[in-house]
Amino acid sequence: MSCNSNSDYTNNLKIFENRRIIITKQNRLLMNSELRKAKILNPLDTLEDWMKEVSDSNTQPNPNCMSIATVDSTGSPNSRMVLCKELDAENGFLTFYTNYSSIKSEEVKNNSKCSALFHWDKFGYQVRLKGFVDKCADSKNDEYFSTRDIGSQIAAWASDQSKEIESLEKMEDSYQKIMNKFQIKSLDEAKEIKLPRPDFWGGYDLWIEEIELWKNRKNRFHDRLKFKRKISIENGKIDVEKRWDSVRIQP
Ligand SMILES: Cc1cc2nc3c(=O)[nH]c(=O)nc-3n(C[C@H](O)[C@H](O)[C@H](O)COP(=O)(O)O)c2cc1C
Repeated sequence: MSCNSNSDYTNNLKIFENRRIIITKQNRLLMNSELRKAKILNPLDTLEDWMKEVSDSNTQPNPNCMSIATVDSTGSPNSRMVLCKELDAENGFLTFYTNYSSIKSEEVKNNSKCSALFHWDKFGYQVRLKGFVDKCADSKNDEYFSTRDIGSQIAAWASDQSKEIESLEKMEDSYQKIMNKFQIKSLDEAKEIKLPRPDFWGGYDLWIEEIELWKNRKNRFHDRLKFKRKISIENGKIDVEKRWDSVRIQP
């Protein structure tokens, strides 16, 4: 299957309830007990199922949060939480949004390899992902930015993410300056207002080459399946192998 890097998949996306996680497919894969290797043709469907299950339970404020690890120019790893805003199980990527001058963004400029980790303790699920990131198209960034509430849109403009600042007061000043710039008197009155997206803010698609599904079992004798497939890039085109190879691994 051939996918265009930076292409816009929004036409076949589906808003995931009110949480603004976008998924492309409703493919419930019911697995009550063990992970069945032969049944899982696409492990991203399982990730989608698990995220949906956690979300439906209403037990976690952010069922879509995940840790993202990047490496700096000395090879030192660095991780932080972000929100997964889209999962495209069919094409094989997930999307998160951030500041394009943040540390993660600087790090992926040198090395686009990236890993992600989900853990839902109450459910006994862990999902590990490895792949590389690709900046999202402007159209996709604009569309997502416009779904954010006005307070968060102002925050995106006002923050030079991860740069040092003297005090909380200075931060509040920056926020107020952005409100003044866009002639916003109060957030309550500005609920319907949409700001343009700052060009230093947008998303990354994480294209997934490796994924491990982990399920808690008694006696810490856990159930683990590891899946791999090849993704190649030629002339800016991302080519994703359809088939996943899978192995069972020990706890
Ligand atoms: C639950 C949770 C969700 C977060 N979601 C995001 C997010 O979607 N995007 C983002 O840029 N930062 C998010 N953050 C903040 C990041 O963890 C991090 O502080 C920030 O992105 C700066 O990281 P960096 O400079 O290493 O890139 C989140 C933090 C938490 C605890």
